[in-house]
Amino acid sequence: MAKAVALAPDSWIPGGEPDPLIEQRHGHVGKPVSRLDGPLKVTGGASFAAEFPMEGMVYAAVAYSTVAKGRIAELDTAAAEAAPGVVLVMTHRNTPRLKPTPVFLSAQKASGGDALPVMQDGQIHWNGQPLAVVLADTQEQADHAKSLIRIGYETEEAVTDFAQAQQRGTRTAQFMGQPLHDAKGDAEAALAKAPVKVDALYTTPRHNHNPIELHAVTLAWQGETLRVHDSQQMVAHCAWTLAKVFDIAEDQVVVTSPFVGGGFGSKTLWQHHILAAAAAKLAGRPVRLVLSREGVYRVVGGRSPTQQRVALGANPDGRLTALIHSGTTVKTAHNAMPEPFILPTRSAYTAETILLDVQQVELDMVSNTFMRAPGEAVGTFALECALDELAHELGIDPVELRIRNEPKEDPTSGLPFSARHIVEAWRAGVERFGWSRRNPQPGVVREGEWLVGMGCATATYPYYRMPGGAARLTITREGRATVDVAVHEMGMGTATVQTQVTAERLGLPMEAIRFNYGDSTLPGVIMAGGSQQTAATGASVIAAYNKLVGELLTLAGNDSTLAGLKPEEVASRDAGLCKRDEPERYESYASILSRARRDEVSVVAEPPQPLEMMHWSMHSHGAMFCEVRVNVVTGEPRVSRFLGSFDCGRILNPKTAASQFRGGIIMGLGLALMEETQFDERSGRIMNPSLAEYHVPVHLDVPEIDVIWTDIPDPHTPMGARGVGEIGITGTGAAVANAIFNATGKRVRDLPITLDKLM
Ligand code: MOS
Repeated sequence: MAKAVALAPDSWIPGGEPDPLIEQRHGHVGKPVSRLDGPLKVTGGASFAAEFPMEGMVYAAVAYSTVAKGRIAELDTAAAEAAPGVVLVMTHRNTPRLKPTPVFLSAQKASGGDALPVMQDGQIHWNGQPLAVVLADTQEQADHAKSLIRIGYETEEAVTDFAQAQQRGTRTAQFMGQPLHDAKGDAEAALAKAPVKVDALYTTPRHNHNPIELHAVTLAWQGETLRVHDSQQMVAHCAWTLAKVFDIAEDQVVVTSPFVGGGFGSKTLWQHHILAAAAAKLAGRPVRLVLSREGVYRVVGGRSPTQQRVALGANPDGRLTALIHSGTTVKTAHNAMPEPFILPTRSAYTAETILLDVQQVELDMVSNTFMRAPGEAVGTFALECALDELAHELGIDPVELRIRNEPKEDPTSGLPFSARHIVEAWRAGVERFGWSRRNPQPGVVREGEWLVGMGCATATYPYYRMPGGAARLTITREGRATVDVAVHEMGMGTATVQTQVTAERLGLPMEAIRFNYGDSTLPGVIMAGGSQQTAATGASVIAAYNKLVGELLTLAGNDSTLAGLKPEEVASRDAGLCKRDEPERYESYASILSRARRDEVSVVAEPPQPLEMMHWSMHSHGAMFCEVRVNVVTGEPRVSRFLGSFDCGRILNPKTAASQFRGGIIMGLGLALMEETQFDERSGRIMNPSLAEYHVPVHLDVPEIDVIWTDIPDPHTPMGARGVGEIGITGTGAAVANAIFNATGKRVRDLPITLDKLM
């Protein structure tokens, strides 16, 4: 069971409920504001990491190992060094000495994908490991010279086979310092006695990251400072980690990343950052290193495969007596990220007995990492398919079965939910989707060559609370405000939503706000991950606002109509402060600052430590509905309709949130039907490292996706909102699989559900 955390008051939380005074006057939050970066993106004005020019810059190409384990026995770089345009060939022989890479989750600001030495010796740890970097005047020259490098290997036996590794023994996986193991009662005994049961094995494959923008850096040593233009979802973490590796002060590394062409968990620090910086140091030249699409597969990890058992025991009325979710996943020995597929099950359903357990094996491969909803994306596939199987066994509608097992409090931690309106989401979804038209008997609805079916599944993703938030807020006499915070824009609408939040708080038009982000020198250590960036940033902005109000009241002094008011009695309207419940007591920012002879006032503030909120079980929820058609001749599955009905607290911007929901669902369609890394278990080599052979959904694969939400504010979060970034990919795989079962009577428990499994 999760550890109980001491209760702490949460009265600091500024307005989980929308403040009606603020809402009436300003009303920015909750409006479908278009993305502020939209015009820059469509006109080509947004600069990405590989687009920043640097004087005297050279281009990098990387040579990769073709064996999984061993050492370099022969290395001939003479031809490459003599090739046209070549400036440097860097191998383990001449790479500068580096400190170990702090691996992600090992420290607050650690962001390395793996902890292995970076080209410090001739040892090989995975098939695809970088072994040489060539710098040349053009990319083509670098690529050509790289092809001339000759490497001979002395191989050692590698562990690259999942089943073989399992035979040698597994270990309980640890995630964020805790074992992935929960138990309540004797679930196996309860299962054995259950009147109705299902007990099945589900498997999910490896997935590789394929953001449109390739992983890239353009960087230079400027004096003692390392200046990095990056594609990054953790700028502050990346700067800190690079400083550790190069053994320099944290402020000697500056990482900026104004735009990111997709991240999904992959735009963290990998070996290419370190190699580019080391090569730039050695060559004394700025370097641009863009991984090729193949290079991304070799250097950047993805999602690990899982084998999951879900066993459910129930009474004839559908109430769960046993809930078992266990299995095995794969990681490397040098990262801290097992795929935590039991996470969604911890809080999904009430059951008399519960057993959750993740075992791991370690393989010699590129380090796996976070991929959108790590744990929940594949965990909900197994759990929610099993619920559907149980519903079928019981003859109970699958929506009804879920509602019957709705928990009153968190079933594993015992904590109260901060807010949970999933039943409302189910009911609204049933209505909207036309669920009553579903025929519960599988394989009987046919239109021409197509069998038609409907399926549903629960979506869920936790509301994480991480330390490290901070923001600077500056307001000028002209009534303009600037927010500075080291966060990220990966396409989700960060700047847009935070501009809405800031404008609303300050009583200013959105045009008066400038939101600066994507720069490691700004305040805050906030990752664009765990679906918590918006909340963490908003909490920081609100903390800064509260501090700013205090400063302004001090500056206003005794001559102001505001004299004597405490900060908590004050709100903003019309570019000034007023008494919250007596708005005519008002003074403008311009007046306060000019009377104080100040051009501007600026504060930096940190929100209270989020640990204070750990006495709630906090999760976003959703109800997913899918309609599929399966061709009786070819087995081809086509998703024809999809609805996500969400309960994610207050929606701050319906336009950007809907886009997040839809994007997650589209990625979920890929997980359900096509995404699969072909990993050769004999050689440890990824055999489909390209978008030609690794399939992701294209337009023809994506039907109209409908999204709705409860919009019920969470009273225990800073803005009433919970995360929306990752939940869309959860539940989607199961909704598709369950619809396919309803259409065909075939239960496919092995992702992806390709047509060969349906013929
Ligand atoms: Mo997400 S996998 O936390 O970028």
